[in-house]
Amino acid sequence: MTDNKLNIQWYPGHMAKARRLMQEDMKMIDLVIEIVDARVVRSSRNPEIDKLAGQKSRLILLNKSDLSEDSENARWIQYFAAQNIGVVALDARTRTQMKKVVAAAQEACKEKIERDKRRGILNRPIRAMVVGIPNVGKSTFINSFSGKTVAKTGNKPGVTKGNQWIRVDSKLELLDTPGLLWPKFEDPVVGMHLAYIGSINDDIINKEELCMHFIEEILARFPDAFDKRYEIQCEGKEPHEIMEAIAVKKACLVKGGDPDLKRVANMILDDYRGGRLGKISIEVAE
Ligand code: G4P
Repeated sequence: MTDNKLNIQWYPGHMAKARRLMQEDMKMIDLVIEIVDARVVRSSRNPEIDKLAGQKSRLILLNKSDLSEDSENARWIQYFAAQNIGVVALDARTRTQMKKVVAAAQEACKEKIERDKRRGILNRPIRAMVVGIPNVGKSTFINSFSGKTVAKTGNKPGVTKGNQWIRVDSKLELLDTPGLLWPKFEDPVVGMHLAYIGSINDDIINKEELCMHFIEEILARFPDAFDKRYEIQCEGKEPHEIMEAIAVKKACLVKGGDPDLKRVANMILDDYRGGRLGKISIEVAE
């Protein structure tokens, strides 16, 4: 897991540049494909996309859905469908959902396709741009859907863009470089949830504290998530006591026999990020 993908200083200058680049690219496309992390759908979106995308057709991809709950993915799909926004859950590392994505792209652009038809333009591929905050899987999606390895330049606002069209299929073309959105750091919950999934540079956060918040949130929905994985009893214990119990069980101890809480925090968060605590969605549709 790469933990430093959000290690970009998102100062206003960067945001302005990313915004300007995206606005330029918007002129060339029919469809905005917004990639979000299915485990933290709210925190991995930036509401500015509504303004940036303007009247363009939209499609949302709930990526990393292999790591989130199937039932919650279904609820998110309903949530966006109720707002008339096309949505597909996928694992961008595979091409298994490719047909679904192409079909959803066509559905999202059906008015444009109809308009083209009336003008005698047939079979013109939809041109789309992939956008999203760092680490949601934009490059993985572009690479696996295009069958090529495309230069990973999207994480640095301001890099020279190639602006090549990649043909996914006769009906869909993608801009080779994704549009970079920035996280909504003003809300501390967003930062925390992005840290749970490993999208924030771990060096700048207190892992033990983060892990305590994580345990508390997970227990509220999955009271036995840790009992099962670590063969401990969580009932009646505070998060720090749970970490201590896991430390003892897994022999994560410092010299002298005290629990090594830093190592335990790393282990628990790594287990979650790797799907070893089970499929768990942090944010659910309401
Ligand atoms: P970005 O362009 O939006 O910044 O994201 P990128 O494609 O670099 O993906 C970030 C990490 O997420 C990568 O892992 C990638 O393999 C993983 N990933 C992308 N899509 C999925 C998915 O649908 N499911 C799962 N489980 N993982 C996904 P990494 O560890 O940073 O890199 P690597 O070791 O896989 O190369």
